[in-house]
Amino acid sequence: MGTISQIQIEELERSHVHIPDRERVMDIIKQMKDDGPDKLQVVADFDRTLTKFTHRGSVCATCHNVLEESGLPKEYKEKAYAIRDKYFPIETDPNLSIEEKIPHMIEWWTQAHDLLMKYPLSKEMLYNMVANSSAKLRDGCTKFFDKLHASDVPLLIFSAGVGDIICEMIAQHSTMYDNMHVVSNDLDFDDNGKMIGFKGELIHVFNKNESAIHDSDYFTNLSHCTNVILMGDSLGDLQMANGAENVKAKLTIGFLNTRVKDSLELYKSKFDIVICEDESLDICNAIVNLIT
Ligand code: C5P
Repeated sequence: MGTISQIQIEELERSHVHIPDRERVMDIIKQMKDDGPDKLQVVADFDRTLTKFTHRGSVCATCHNVLEESGLPKEYKEKAYAIRDKYFPIETDPNLSIEEKIPHMIEWWTQAHDLLMKYPLSKEMLYNMVANSSAKLRDGCTKFFDKLHASDVPLLIFSAGVGDIICEMIAQHSTMYDNMHVVSNDLDFDDNGKMIGFKGELIHVFNKNESAIHDSDYFTNLSHCTNVILMGDSLGDLQMANGAENVKAKLTIGFLNTRVKDSLELYKSKFDIVICEDESLDICNAIVNLIT
């Protein structure tokens, strides 16, 4: 049974790609291909999903790290890195449950944002901070954006990072198209362009199920897009498309960037496809190219 023989995606055969139930995944992709781009929507996390975890062996910046790498006093960077070094191992610890991690994540984001408030960040600094940063879109990310745009497939970028940095990175390294929508922690500036805080509810890595986007009209307006590709690097990302309506087929793709040995079995039990230590979007591009 199944439709494996009808679909051939060479990229899915690579040794770093893990597919626990191949027949089911091939059936989902076949369904998506038959339905075509008009029925498709994509929901993707940003940091370490659309961006790289490492580039040629060196760890790349997240949105928050972009603010830490340059532009503000060294003291800010040191304090922010100390906070990150305490909480990142908790975020990625496969032996703790999401419930156990949540209070620590709230502490992390709150401390990081409170610390940032103490330093003179302005809107005009963001361009150089991004230009000088080690943050990198994955190889093939521009192709991915171009293809989704050309096929008119909506892309929701749902991130616990910093919205202004995401938009600046995409503007500098790719194209922000009108089929793309960013939901993240947005900086708030006063009339002089001085940062005065963050707008809206805090988004951390494990509360993406509670975000206001699920109650907004975003997913309602896309209720005709019954097929959803979800891409993330954290188990919290699996909740990003909870608000999607009339879902007929859903394919979840997980990027496992670190602690691969410890976390592979867990990721394989949660995501349909798990991609380990890959700096590209080749696998996602291959799937999207087949559908659109
Ligand atoms: O886009 P995404 O939702 O993945 O963004 C959140 C990521 O940013 C987390 O995975 C976390 O490791 C990272 N982070 C950080 N510094 C902070 C807060 C979060 O690097 N202060």
